[in-house]
Amino acid sequence: MAKIGHPLRILPQIDSTNEEIKRNLAANLPEGAVVIADQQTNGRGRLGRSWHSEFGSGLYLSTLLKPDLPPENLSLVTLMAGVATATAIQHLAPVKLKWPNDILLNGKKLAGTLCECIYKPGSIPAVIVGIGINLNHTSFPKEIQGIATSLKLETGKTINRSELVLNLLQNLNSEYIEFLQRKNKNLIRKWTEQSNMFGKTMTVHQKGKTLLGTAVGLNPQGKLILQTPEGKKHVLDSGELIEAISKNL
Ligand code: BTN
Repeated sequence: MAKIGHPLRILPQIDSTNEEIKRNLAANLPEGAVVIADQQTNGRGRLGRSWHSEFGSGLYLSTLLKPDLPPENLSLVTLMAGVATATAIQHLAPVKLKWPNDILLNGKKLAGTLCECIYKPGSIPAVIVGIGINLNHTSFPKEIQGIATSLKLETGKTINRSELVLNLLQNLNSEYIEFLQRKNKNLIRKWTEQSNMFGKTMTVHQKGKTLLGTAVGLNPQGKLILQTPEGKKHVLDSGELIEAISKNL
């Protein structure tokens, strides 16, 4: 396994660091390569959303992984990236993971991950892990003002991006080693420990349907188990989760 962070490029501006990695795949970009940008002009989020990526305020980072694992393991990459990111921030602020890819601080979105898998017949899949963290933003555009936050806004401290990058790359490395060793139980445990969503009532919008239930755990593939008030368990692949009522069981 290659060490994550070699080679590492820092660009002043790019459309999206995930796209930059994608463009370089054909040129045989090695596993572990990292691209960081000071600004993204087309930062992308999950579910086709955009990721606010103003100059100099955030960490916008992508890395390339080539995990030689069966496809069913790949859905866990998002959880792995979430654990590595949350662990890297934890000493600065008490962040919480929200399934599948959110990192929240005081109930607002602080960071997110976007993992994209590219399959080519006969070769190991390329997995692009994109991580966005709001560091030193002092305000956000109107549309996301109520739901987004930054470490600066929450802690009052100016965050050193280089220190955070070093910490994040170290965490990604150690989580990735465990991931390749298929220590999935460890990963699920660490993810669960860093989340506060279990026992809470959630509304899920999925494939045109709305489901209400309590988040009760993750299955071994990292899917969310939601229990309805009638006691029926649903295993969720993806979808939009909204916390309906905060209720401890
Ligand atoms: C989300 O929460 O919806 C995912 C946000 C992911 C944002 C990061 S920033 C670096 C990388 N490049 C992108 O275009 N997106 C990811």
